[in-house]
Amino acid sequence: MPKKIAVLSGDGIGPEIVAEALKVLNFLNSDMSLGLSFETALVGGAAYDAFGTPLPQTTLNLCKNADAVLLGAVGGPKWEPLAHAIRPERGLLGIRSELNLFSNLRPAILYPQLVHASTLKPEVVSGLDIMIVRELTGGIYFGQPRGIHVAESGEKVGINTKIYSESEIRRIAHSAFKIAQKRHKKLCSVDKANVLEVTELWRNVMTDVGREYPDVQLSHMYVDNAAMQLVRAPKQFDVIVTTNLFGDILSDIAAMLTGSIGMLPSASLDVNGKGMYEPIHGSAPDIAGQGIANPLATILSAAMMLRYTFNLAEAAQRIEQAVDTALDTHVRTADIYSEGMTKVSTSEMGDAILNAL
Ligand code: IPM
Ligand code: MG
Repeated sequence: MPKKIAVLSGDGIGPEIVAEALKVLNFLNSDMSLGLSFETALVGGAAYDAFGTPLPQTTLNLCKNADAVLLGAVGGPKWEPLAHAIRPERGLLGIRSELNLFSNLRPAILYPQLVHASTLKPEVVSGLDIMIVRELTGGIYFGQPRGIHVAESGEKVGINTKIYSESEIRRIAHSAFKIAQKRHKKLCSVDKANVLEVTELWRNVMTDVGREYPDVQLSHMYVDNAAMQLVRAPKQFDVIVTTNLFGDILSDIAAMLTGSIGMLPSASLDVNGKGMYEPIHGSAPDIAGQGIANPLATILSAAMMLRYTFNLAEAAQRIEQAVDTALDTHVRTADIYSEGMTKVSTSEMGDAILNAL
């Protein structure tokens, strides 16, 4: 089976971190004869600069014809003045939507070596292992009407629409229940059903789908409480399923529990397991080009790609184990550095993973 990977480095630290993930993938590709092949393309601000659009048709076609997409990050201050429709972020959102990558998995795992890198107390976070399942192609990110217009009064108004159909909720529910079945069988659905009708429907459909998974314990939580519980007692969660915007916010909180947002990988999957893999952090323009970004979230995203799209669990495990081993040797990028450790650059961290492999 051909294993074609579209590689989109994007903007900011994107090219630096993707280079390290490719180092790791290339090594395993020859070491284990995985048969992976790579093709690169531009996306985001880089694509805008070259072609005047953040998602050129050639890039989209490459992604559609590939079996998986590995993405760095998009966006930066340089493109902020652009109209929303041509912002770098639209490149990313366009791929998610065009490829129907509705199920976004964001595992927040605390490596024991990084207990002290977290801003939370060790006893609160040690042993943390939660999975956030974020709906990725619907909700307020894509709902119509949207935009900024001038009302009759002459005043400007901005509008976005949070909309979910029953079928959209149903399919993300099935994804989340299936994941919970393979873990500790606890699923917490996060909504704002006390205020927003759209999430009242969300809650009802989750409950309904839950009848098909009697082995999974389903609970519901309002999003404000969930944000609080994530920093108060995060280990109460096993799997969280939530809407696009709530998932965006809660996954950043979850990331900090693991010590740094530079540690969190993600997989965005369609119904067939085809997927895009990217770190959950952004393009970090403030540190771009300095060689100090943490490549581990991208390297761990590559591991998720091997596991979820290509069914190469052993290769995925080797990467995850190598991260563990490398952290044992006390190498740390700046974001996870603490006293007594060895501060390393982006590429030195990549080398440390290679050495561990
Ligand atoms: C994420 C990011 C994106 C999002 C941005 C870059 C559009 O924050 O993947 O979490 O909001 O989904
Ligand atoms: Mg985000």
